[in-house]
Amino acid sequence: MSDEVILQVKDLKTYFLVDEGTVKAVDGVSFDLHKGETLGIVGESCSGKSVSNLSIINLIPSPPGKIAGGEVLFHGKDLLKMPQNEIREIRGNKISMIFQDPMTSLNPFLRISTQMVETIMLHQKLSQEEAKAKAIEMLKLAGIPAPEKRIDQYPHQFSGGMRQRVMIAMGLSCNPEILIADEPTSALDVTIQAQILELMQELTRKLGTAVILITHSLGVVAGMCDTICVMYAGRIVERGHTEEIFESPRHPYTMGLIRSVPRLDQETKNRLYSIPGQPPNVIDLPDCCPFYPRCDKVKDICKKKYPPVVQFENGQSASCWLYSKEGQNV
Ligand SMILES: Nc1ncnc2c1ncn2[C@@H]1O[C@H](COP(=O)(O)OP(=O)(O)OP(=O)(O)O)[C@@H](O)[C@H]1O
Ligand SMILES: [Mg+2]
Repeated sequence: MSDEVILQVKDLKTYFLVDEGTVKAVDGVSFDLHKGETLGIVGESCSGKSVSNLSIINLIPSPPGKIAGGEVLFHGKDLLKMPQNEIREIRGNKISMIFQDPMTSLNPFLRISTQMVETIMLHQKLSQEEAKAKAIEMLKLAGIPAPEKRIDQYPHQFSGGMRQRVMIAMGLSCNPEILIADEPTSALDVTIQAQILELMQELTRKLGTAVILITHSLGVVAGMCDTICVMYAGRIVERGHTEEIFESPRHPYTMGLIRSVPRLDQETKNRLYSIPGQPPNVIDLPDCCPFYPRCDKVKDICKKKYPPVVQFENGQSASCWLYSKEGQNV
């Protein structure tokens, strides 16, 4: 990972206006991504992980969605203000995305070759033959056996794990600077998950691609990511280097997530820990800490005001009243 920042997300807010009110799906998210960095975004369902990343590449359906504020600077240029033709050029080329469900990004009626070759031709200005050779090479790197033959098959002729490999090959075929992978393996069994994540790590390291990896599981990010952002109810509640987050988690939510990761090196006598309660509904959230009803360290102030971001010396940061001066005497 280099010092060069290639993507800066600043105070991003994405809201959905629905009949029941305003869903503040993403409400003030900020982070930097460095060249070659693998950043994990972790959180429970509905915390705003997918919406943050769809906002980054300007793919929020509007209506009902709208970007209510913030900036997404890619090499200093705001992707949110870019005309459609320019952002299309970046999407799939410089920034590519693997979606949560591979069948939403693979067209079931088209052969893999048609889908890959056209994208490569379009973005890399290669001839059809060159593009096909490149596609076969990428499928091979992604561990698809006999790629020269498989490339002419349809998506349903591949197993779930193979489809994910195809998605990774497609996602990396234009040598993007950033790969956004949204739960790329959640539909697969654990052994295949591990194989595919390993493959993704190996390929992106080789190509120098920065990765934003979205997942429910801290276990997944532990082995793969340089840095972690923990999301809760549309905001990042803790951020830091992976080792620091695991060694000294600051936010009670992160502590709970860590306790819920299965450990192979410890005998489990009791059932695995799970954080009590449910994630909040993000429609018309009051301006207090949304985690307080589930928190075992809750104070009075947590029920009244949203905690400020507290910066720690090692670069870690957390939004929690436990660490802010104002929260000490209440
Ligand atoms: N098109 C939409 N219309 C209305 N609300 C939406 C829309 N898309 C997302 N949301 C809401 O935004 C919030 C965040 O959703 P998001 O998909 O980002 O969650 P997530 O963290 O990716 O969850 P998961 O882990 O289940 O994928 C949710 O409350 C969701 O209902
Ligand atoms: Mg999601």
